[in-house]
Amino acid sequence: MRVLIGGGSGFVGRELTRLLRNKGHQVTVISRQPGPGKITWGELESHGLPPCEGAVNLAGENLMNPLRWWNESYKKDLFSSRIDTTKTLAQAIAASSSPPHSWVLVSGVACYKPSLTAEYTEDHEWTPFDLFSNLVKEWEASALLPENVAKITKQVVIRSGLVLGRDGGAMKQMLPAFWLGLGGTLGSGTQPFPWVHASDLAGIIAHGLEPPTDPPSTSPQVFNGVAPALNTNYEFTKELGKVLRRPTVLPVPVIALNALMGSERAVVLSQGQKVIPKRTLEAGFQYKYPDLTSALKEIVGN
Ligand SMILES: NC(=O)c1ccc[n+]([C@@H]2O[C@H](COP(=O)([O-])OP(=O)(O)OC[C@H]3O[C@@H](n4cnc5c(N)ncnc54)[C@H](OP(=O)(O)O)[C@@H]3O)[C@@H](O)[C@H]2O)c1
Repeated sequence: MRVLIGGGSGFVGRELTRLLRNKGHQVTVISRQPGPGKITWGELESHGLPPCEGAVNLAGENLMNPLRWWNESYKKDLFSSRIDTTKTLAQAIAASSSPPHSWVLVSGVACYKPSLTAEYTEDHEWTPFDLFSNLVKEWEASALLPENVAKITKQVVIRSGLVLGRDGGAMKQMLPAFWLGLGGTLGSGTQPFPWVHASDLAGIIAHGLEPPTDPPSTSPQVFNGVAPALNTNYEFTKELGKVLRRPTVLPVPVIALNALMGSERAVVLSQGQKVIPKRTLEAGFQYKYPDLTSALKEIVGN
């Protein structure tokens, strides 16, 4: 199968590219920069969709970009980098004379309202309540294909939790502090901590790329891209400390987190949701890292 991956040069994209190439598939990345094995977003707009059986969008300005202050221009870029690229790819699919059989968007679990008790499956009906839930709403809406194309192309949305892997993402930013013994719970630590190992997220995306067995439904299939283990931030912190053999006794107060990250953005760490991958499990997806111990051991190399 030939797969086109928007933002395929990033953390999740590199993992997905590895997995797909190992399975014998061909990958072309859509990027802002030209290069071997890549096309640019401009080329996609001017030349249309290259021949492919699967398409994925992973492009987006990083939410934890250490080089940027949290301000209106950053927020604008978070929205436009996701929504404009998703729209461009969806429009190219819709305009193609031979659209792919599958089109996968990876969005986030921020659509589910943070709660210590509520449990969210993919069946949960939600309406936006803050900045990030509004982002997910607009992002997912921008992926929708017109009905005539949706009868040919299966639409899949994967709502990802925090992606844990050795090659980038949150772990790369957190590990130095934990190695130094400076890691600790964020706030009280009781908040749920929805996470997924990068290799499992790549597997869920690859599953989503498989050709449909029945004629596709015209609305997207939604899958929660999280591990089945429900953990809190406290459990994550203690497990990481255990795997690294480092103390984790210094909690980070929410007030410090808010000052450092901006309170609007800090909610992704200081609060959380219990997210259940009900449909992902029902679809028969087998996790390699269903629990924190196995995931963190793989990541820190013990
Ligand atoms: N990592 C996580 O924990 C996590 C959790 C939930 C959801 N997600 C979502 O999953 C997707 C992939 O995540 P990731 O961690 O792999 O992302 P990433 O590495 O931060 O970025 C992916 C790619 O997006 C492109 N990009 C960056 N800034 C852009 C901009 N301003 N405009 C257009 N393109 C831009 C870059 O590709 P080029 O430089 O080649 O253009 C980059 O390689 C993202 O949409 C993210 O929101 C990630």
